[in-house]
Amino acid sequence: MTGFPRLPEDFVVGVSTASYQIEGAAAEEGKGPSIWDTFCAEPGRIRNGETGEVACDHYHRSKEDVALIRELGVDSYRFSISWPRVMPSGAGHVNAAGLDFYDRLVDDLLAAGVTPAATLYHWDLPQALQDRGGWQVRETAQRMADYATVVAERLGDRVGMWMPVNEPVVATMFGHAVGTHAPGLALGFDALPVAHHLLLGHGLTVQALRAAGVGNIGIASNHAPTWPATGSDADREAAESYDTLVNWLFADPVLCGTYPDELLASLMPGHADGTLAADLEIISTPLDWFGVNYYQPVPVGTPGSASASSPALEGAALPEGLPFEPRVLPDVPTTGLDWAVVPDGLHEILTTFARRYGDRLPPLYITESGCAFHDRPAADGAVRDPQRVAYHRDHLAAVARAIGDGVDVRGYFAWSLLDNFEWALGYEPRFGLVHVDYDTQVRTPKDSYRWFQEHLSARRRSG
Ligand code: NOJ
Repeated sequence: MTGFPRLPEDFVVGVSTASYQIEGAAAEEGKGPSIWDTFCAEPGRIRNGETGEVACDHYHRSKEDVALIRELGVDSYRFSISWPRVMPSGAGHVNAAGLDFYDRLVDDLLAAGVTPAATLYHWDLPQALQDRGGWQVRETAQRMADYATVVAERLGDRVGMWMPVNEPVVATMFGHAVGTHAPGLALGFDALPVAHHLLLGHGLTVQALRAAGVGNIGIASNHAPTWPATGSDADREAAESYDTLVNWLFADPVLCGTYPDELLASLMPGHADGTLAADLEIISTPLDWFGVNYYQPVPVGTPGSASASSPALEGAALPEGLPFEPRVLPDVPTTGLDWAVVPDGLHEILTTFARRYGDRLPPLYITESGCAFHDRPAADGAVRDPQRVAYHRDHLAAVARAIGDGVDVRGYFAWSLLDNFEWALGYEPRFGLVHVDYDTQVRTPKDSYRWFQEHLSARRRSG
């Protein structure tokens, strides 16, 4: 029941977090406001009016958290750097205290024998850049590359893996098409330029990192198999358009330098003045690896079904007139957020990537996978989360099977090290291997933490 799947000896096992979700210290030591600070302050945006103002107070407790990572025994820790902590207004002035924080974190990780893996943009855009148009304008992509240069000059000699952007699909869809994430815009299909600018920001940042002499660069991109809700032609077509929009619109340009279909490409900025082709060259700057964030497959049918809203939408209302509708997957185990638990979906998306991209595909990493439950300490103080143990065991086994089938997968980062601020859903969903009591900031390793710890140390002993 609890065995750790057999994986190659050099397979990287890690844990991941993101700045706004754990750091707190939202206005301390020179940090500027981000779009998430603004969004959380707007009434009605976040469940129970919660914010990331304090979160896990990681900014003040990073040493304790690094000790937890060291004791866990993982190879790598994926964290994100807060752009407005480093550059409070998004460009120009650099906040020395902000950079110092990440400098110390990186040194502490290395001293603990853990490889730092840094995401540069995990959704907390400096508000000052949003005020100038945010991801709706292409200048933001260039500002991102400038910010990356500043970070690379300081940390480039010690960070082992780089991810310019996290989940551009979610930043586009939730942040700009339906409006349930910051900056809260509900533009529908008019959000497509945002996707293009995020991808351009990714590409320009890859180039800036390479120019700064930094290597081992990838992306953390959310992907999931899309399944037709029924065998009907209409549902198959609906699923195909959803698949194009949420999967291939983001992976094709990065891996092949093309948008998946003519119609979508025609909606991207740059057509009139012929810059689209040049942008796609930048976006497809070769990567050392490609990171997949995987949570659940999505069944999709034609609009108008009476079925409950798909958990993939996290309660968001879709704009009118879409040719598809994400549904609920029947008869599968679910997490505390009602997300479907389907480890085979991870195997499927990995093998689909290998088939779709062939020789163009660099090695893959799972940059996130995880599950939320309503964990709480029992009377004896232990936090028992057998479902999370099973989740990670079964998803690691799915990766092992994909490797057996010839897919080059190099690592798996569990989401998340700590319970943390789950964006619009606030603090109720707990994804951590470590429980956080938000009143006291006491960290309690859950059974899933112990499970990883035990197996990782056995793996080291036998290696
Ligand atoms: C993806 C995001 O990158 C992360 O920020 C989020 O907390 C997890 N998925 C869980 O929803």
